[in-house]
Amino acid sequence: MSGIRFLENHDRMRFVLLGILFLVFMNPASSLESKNPLPIPSLLEYRTSSDGTKNFILTAQKGETDFFDGTTTSTMGYNGNYLGPTIRVRRNDRISITVFNHLNNPTTVHWHGADVPAESDGGPHQGIRPRRSWTAQFRVRQQAATLWYHPHFIKTTGEQVYKGLAGMLIIDDEVSDRLQIPHEYGVDDLPIILQERRFDGEGRFDYRPGMPDLMHGYFGNRLLVNGSVEPYADVPRGLSRLRLLNGSNSTLLRIRFDGVDSLYQIASDGGFLERPVPLESIILSPGERAEVLIDFASADSETVRLVADTNGRNTYTAMEFHIGNQDAEFLSVPEYLTSIEPIQESEARLTRRFELQFGMGGRMFINGRQMNMNRIDEVVRLGDTEIWHIVNIDGMGGGGMSGMMSQPHSFHIHAVQFQILDINGKSPPPELSGWKDTVLLWPGDQIRVIIRFHSYPGVYMYHCHLLEHEDNGMMGQFEIVEE
Ligand code: C2O
Ligand code: CU
Ligand code: CU
Repeated sequence: MSGIRFLENHDRMRFVLLGILFLVFMNPASSLESKNPLPIPSLLEYRTSSDGTKNFILTAQKGETDFFDGTTTSTMGYNGNYLGPTIRVRRNDRISITVFNHLNNPTTVHWHGADVPAESDGGPHQGIRPRRSWTAQFRVRQQAATLWYHPHFIKTTGEQVYKGLAGMLIIDDEVSDRLQIPHEYGVDDLPIILQERRFDGEGRFDYRPGMPDLMHGYFGNRLLVNGSVEPYADVPRGLSRLRLLNGSNSTLLRIRFDGVDSLYQIASDGGFLERPVPLESIILSPGERAEVLIDFASADSETVRLVADTNGRNTYTAMEFHIGNQDAEFLSVPEYLTSIEPIQESEARLTRRFELQFGMGGRMFINGRQMNMNRIDEVVRLGDTEIWHIVNIDGMGGGGMSGMMSQPHSFHIHAVQFQILDINGKSPPPELSGWKDTVLLWPGDQIRVIIRFHSYPGVYMYHCHLLEHEDNGMMGQFEIVEE
């Protein structure tokens, strides 16, 4: 399964070799005595207007953060110094989110994974100039899910996300209310935002990507959890639900929990899976989310560790869970979660092909072209079902530059949740059989996804979610048109 696949393929040996080189230069502390409690982003408050709309306010601002005792580094955050509050809404809510830009540069806020009108999507066309504001308005039409928000301005997404602009967007519905699973935010239902960062000896981090960073991604030497270094969380004895987000710029993470036998994945990007899937580890590429249940009553000691390895380059003990004496509200993993109707291939009107490839000078291409704000790459009819056949050319030997240059990519499509039809001709494993908006492609991989374009007319993005790749051109635009 995918956990094993992470390192088994020979193609991947080059990453391991690269990884060893990295380890020599930047070996992260891997033993830990957690002293910092896990910060839990606060739930963003809202004002309800007379028509029932929930009104939220975010301010993108500069900040200073102490990641290590006695050192500060300049960062960015929403309504604070680093990261942003969690926005929690319900299906069918009408919401309005006003974003103030207190940065020195333009920004946007994109609702990753959300079904929103193009004008409210927060892509590169919705730039907010410094000292200005912008308001996104939409009705929540999708099922319960863990989404997130982050900037998306042209060519500066990598830098702004890296400095700390990101937050979670949680949707609840009748299904999530009814399920017998943990749901007390910050108690047994924890947001876990994982971000690899590169700190210097003074505890500072900066974002100055050089050529290798543009190609391989801006890697680091610490893995932050909710903006904190090696924190701990107190958890009850029994089930906890963790909403995992890989919020790294370009770092792939394989996540496991040392001290318990398995994790149970209950949701992928767009909502619940049909049933919990027991796994030893879970791979998240940048932008992907997974909700998991961990049975802390099954632990063999009082401490469980979240261990994440970065494609063979680093292994981090990212955080600890300290198991208390009180029983959790939920003790057993449910059998069944929700039904997912598979979209039939016969429903698709056409197949489009997307070849991901990089070329000279760290420039990244989709179908031989780099992102151009003035070009619509694909025109899709509203209401149509399509198959998108995504190919990671790098590593196939057919591309201009292969070998050492082969790269994983993480393909993301705005405005929709899709289903994976097949990965290299085989049906996806159960954890990849639910709703997805971002999918990892190893070098040489070919993935077919099926998509119902039931969102709204307008211009949206598709791109590699390795942010250095995105900023360097691996992005395109599709326009949904009404007939
Ligand atoms: Cu998470 Cu187009 O972005
Ligand atoms: Cu998105
Ligand atoms: Cu990429």
